Amino acid sequence: MSRSFQPHLFVILGASGDLTTRKLAPALFRLMQRHDELRCCHILGVARSDLSDAAFRDRIREALRDEPHAADADLSAWCDDHVFYQSLGGGSNGYERLARRVVAIEKAYGLPGNRVFYLALPPKTFPGTIEALGQAHLHKSAGWSRLVVEKPFGRDLASAQALNDLVHRYFDESRIFRIDHYLGKETVQNLLVFRFGNALFESVWHRGQIERVDIQVHEALGVETRAGYYDQSGALRDMVQNHLTQLLSLVAMEAPARFDADSIRQEKIKVLESVVSLRPEDVLLGQYAAGESDGRPARAYREEKGVSKGSVTETFVRLRMEIANWRWRGVPFILETGKRMPEKRTRIAIRFQPAPVSLFRPYEDTCDVRPNILEITLQPDEGFNLHFEVKQPRMPLRLAPRRLRFRYDEVFGDLPQAYETLLGDVIQGDQTLFVHADEVINSWRLYTPILEAGLPVHPYAPGSQGPHSAPQ
Ligand code: BG6
Repeated sequence: MSRSFQPHLFVILGASGDLTTRKLAPALFRLMQRHDELRCCHILGVARSDLSDAAFRDRIREALRDEPHAADADLSAWCDDHVFYQSLGGGSNGYERLARRVVAIEKAYGLPGNRVFYLALPPKTFPGTIEALGQAHLHKSAGWSRLVVEKPFGRDLASAQALNDLVHRYFDESRIFRIDHYLGKETVQNLLVFRFGNALFESVWHRGQIERVDIQVHEALGVETRAGYYDQSGALRDMVQNHLTQLLSLVAMEAPARFDADSIRQEKIKVLESVVSLRPEDVLLGQYAAGESDGRPARAYREEKGVSKGSVTETFVRLRMEIANWRWRGVPFILETGKRMPEKRTRIAIRFQPAPVSLFRPYEDTCDVRPNILEITLQPDEGFNLHFEVKQPRMPLRLAPRRLRFRYDEVFGDLPQAYETLLGDVIQGDQTLFVHADEVINSWRLYTPILEAGLPVHPYAPGSQGPHSAPQ
């Protein structure tokens, strides 16, 4: 596939929301800084609010104020020439007006009809928006058109299937970019390079050598200002079904035939197809209670603004999975995520089998042989630790745990933001880091029975490791 940035119109639906100012505008701006070809592209913000082009440009300028190099690029002039706004409000024919505006901008700036439609919208509005785009024939143009959909894609198996069917009415799969921002993180992309670019680790990457795999995404913050969405969603839908499941697939998949989107996604789908159905006893749900976080009093989830009083939405999930294939049968994969945990930390820990014979058993008091663990720290402290034992010098014989350590920032400096990578790929038409329809369906197939099982939700103290009864 040839990768190139072609002139296009980047249409953001839901442009008055904070995703546009927090993530999308900075990412597009940084891409433009690095790739001259992108300077001729145009952005059209779309929302219900009644804003002028000038008012929207001011918002974008404000969002980019702290960007490094913002001043060098003559940001103000760039905004005036390349950023536009179209309101959908003020009548029932909003999408027809939008279609006319799109064509007018393309004509005025000699664009070839290449379009990105980015749904930066609350999930419940996805179906109506996709239908409206289709009805207004916005997906049909002289160039290519691509649809970018934020997560969560559906809220269970049936709704994800229905959403896929709807999207496919207007966009074929090669034009749909389902975002999971974890896939845009450099450390997540590196999982495949680490595994398949280094023969050393791949040769021990199986049930014969690995005892267990932990995938943890901990957050110190609570629900913050997002209760309206989160209380309807919960950690299983918000984190496990997408981010943690993507990590699972990348850790467990077989080597793809080629390093391209189709081959990689096929292998990821096979992992999900091999996961043994989850039983209720494999899953523990929790919700943070009142307590302390970071030395300050912290409210219980149920007391957070916007959360319903008797809410049973889970803010913590721990589950034990088994992948019943030749590589992994019998190895537990423990997925765990929670809000109000002791610290923000995303890591994958691969625990290797112990040595078959403990030579040091006679000295057990002093020679506590720990398993080797490869710890992949995805954020913060992006890097790796390989834990092993060494002999402490001199007698008596004593072992000491030590680690080999690699940190990205010490070698490569700052890492790009996930959205910068992902938007660059959308514009270039590379789907490798996006989620395929079949991945979404297989993932929901796995979790929907658990969502429907009405499992109890146990309270846990902020700053703890989750509910006490967490299964190991
Ligand atoms: C989002 C979830 O997808 O990921 C949030 O909706 C969560 O609830 C966030 O806080 C975590 O992302 P990151 O990149 O900070 O780990």
